[in-house]
Amino acid sequence: MYIPKPLEDKITIPQLKKLKQQGEKFACLTAYDYSFARLVEDCGIEVVLVGDSLGMVIQGHDTTIPVSLEDIRYHGCAVAAGLDNAMLMLDMPFGSLNSPQQALDNASQLLKQTQAQVVKLEGGETQLKTVETLAEFGIASCAHLGLQPQMVHKMGGYRVQGKARNAAEQMISTARDLEQAGTDLLLLECVPASLAAEITATLEIPVIGIGAGADVDGQILVLHDILNVTVGKKPKFSKNFMQGQSNIQSAISRYVHEVKRGQFPDKTHTFS
Ligand code: KIV
Repeated sequence: MYIPKPLEDKITIPQLKKLKQQGEKFACLTAYDYSFARLVEDCGIEVVLVGDSLGMVIQGHDTTIPVSLEDIRYHGCAVAAGLDNAMLMLDMPFGSLNSPQQALDNASQLLKQTQAQVVKLEGGETQLKTVETLAEFGIASCAHLGLQPQMVHKMGGYRVQGKARNAAEQMISTARDLEQAGTDLLLLECVPASLAAEITATLEIPVIGIGAGADVDGQILVLHDILNVTVGKKPKFSKNFMQGQSNIQSAISRYVHEVKRGQFPDKTHTFS
């Protein structure tokens, strides 16, 4: 049985940076409604993401592409109602950032309506100008590199990214450019652990990993995966934290415990 350790302070970007500087890991998780938001915050989750994964785990689509801004706003408001101290991050859905101006307008509306602190955007290099524009207007952002599920059709499937040396070098250079452009956080999805470690060591901003090995600053997973309620194939990088636990609170507290002690992810959840 794992005992929940609720957050004592409000989580901010400077605080996540401080954790990075001190070499302390932080735990992030998705949530999509009020009740789970309360629960995950009570278990000590520092960053709660209303991810466009909701298209798959809540709406039953095959991809994240059908998710709308209104979906993110609706679930963002529900999650915000359950949080006091955790940082709330919202995904910018497919088609909501086709230009810096469109991204600025959509992100401003979302933050106003939900009172979230950060928006997360896929797109890497193509979003440099957008990251810069958001930063100029005081909007905190988390860039997303590696596997970008909104580009599933262009990539031809969900695959580990950055395996070849030239692709890895390109990702390191893009990560640096995004930091320079003003992004506050970086999320790396499905990249070799050694590459994620290199990017994390290179950047001053905190790096959050999913399928990116243990040597990043924070970990994130999809709530439904760790509670073993995801339908169909489970991703290699995730883990059923319900196993051996008698309730959801204990499972989420175990996730937080293992992330903070560097026990999750281990080699079985990691790509090389
Ligand atoms: O949409 C989502 O839940 C995400 C996570 C997989 C990081 O982007």
